[in-house]
Amino acid sequence: MPKNILIIGACGQIGTELTLALRKKYGSEHVIASDIREGNDDLMQSGPFEILDATNYDTLEEVIAYYDICEVYLMAAMLSATAEKFPMRAWNLNMNTLFNVLNLAKEKKINKIFWPSSIAVFGPNTPKEDTPQNTIMEPSTVYGISKQSGERWCEYYFNKFNVDVRSIRYPGLISWKTMPGGGTTDYAIEIYHKALSDGSYTCFLGEETKLPMMFMDDAIRATLQIMEAPEKDIKVRSSYNLAGMSFTPKEMAENIKAVMPSFKIEYAPDFRQDIADSWPSSIDDTPAKDDWGWKSEFNLEKTTEEMLGNLG
Ligand SMILES: NC(=O)c1ccc[n+]([C@@H]2O[C@H](COP(=O)([O-])OP(=O)(O)OC[C@H]3O[C@@H](n4cnc5c(N)ncnc54)[C@H](O)[C@@H]3O)[C@@H](O)[C@H]2O)c1
Repeated sequence: MPKNILIIGACGQIGTELTLALRKKYGSEHVIASDIREGNDDLMQSGPFEILDATNYDTLEEVIAYYDICEVYLMAAMLSATAEKFPMRAWNLNMNTLFNVLNLAKEKKINKIFWPSSIAVFGPNTPKEDTPQNTIMEPSTVYGISKQSGERWCEYYFNKFNVDVRSIRYPGLISWKTMPGGGTTDYAIEIYHKALSDGSYTCFLGEETKLPMMFMDDAIRATLQIMEAPEKDIKVRSSYNLAGMSFTPKEMAENIKAVMPSFKIEYAPDFRQDIADSWPSSIDDTPAKDDWGWKSEFNLEKTTEEMLGNLG
């Protein structure tokens, strides 16, 4: 019998593409999308959907029982830039949804969980280049604090209650199917939209701000791969470092100029600069490669080709 899967926060930037990928793999009727709002047509028309507030344990439990859910992908969260504006709302959303899902697994109502962490778990005292899996963390943002706490709880639930929870520290994700949800790396998506609509872009980060990034197809592939890996191969139960590419806004602009020579960029850093400055520039993802065979496929050139090709 194929397993039934629930995606929470399915209408967001990652949830939309993850839902479509899981439906393709396991069959639409086995993949239930849920969110507090409706998603785009592709998502809504491709399979079952429930309006669900994942901070509410009882309704979450009901949906899980009704659909006989075995695996949960928890994608609901408040992202880095928005979380700085609403710290308590971010903390409550990011932590309560995670506890609800972890506790459902502890109660044996679900078997497996995917919960994403982020490069935001690292802070200003973390080594910036090739940031290792295990190092000084000390996040300085509300979002980063919630993700680091989440990682500690995931590992705790695995150790104490044998909860099979798997996690990746996503870098900034670049995609064209859905707009980003209020993160610090959103510039790397907006830049393509503005290049095509206006021929110019004003970047909210400084030109030399180098950050770890990844094209969405790589992120979805990594997510499916870690969830399918044999349990014994998942040796990190907090969250795995994951690397795709690293570049600055200036390098990205040069890359766009190579195909759109008239493209112009200006820089007007705002409050998001401080957040970006506290994060690593590049990530060492050796444990993900060694433990479950991770390998990225998209570099900046290929990403620009995909973004301009699909948005144009
Ligand atoms: N996008 C990135 O670059 C990135 C990078 C690192 C980590 N992540 C993590 O990946 C996950 C998904 O990110 P995303 O970019 O898709 O976010 P997003 O903001 O695009 O989507 C989040 C979705 O969750 C929904 N949601 C909010 N509150 C909810 C609730 N109470 N119950 C159910 N759904 C609710 C929202 O309506 C939204 O559709 C998050 O945990 C995020 O921290 C994202």
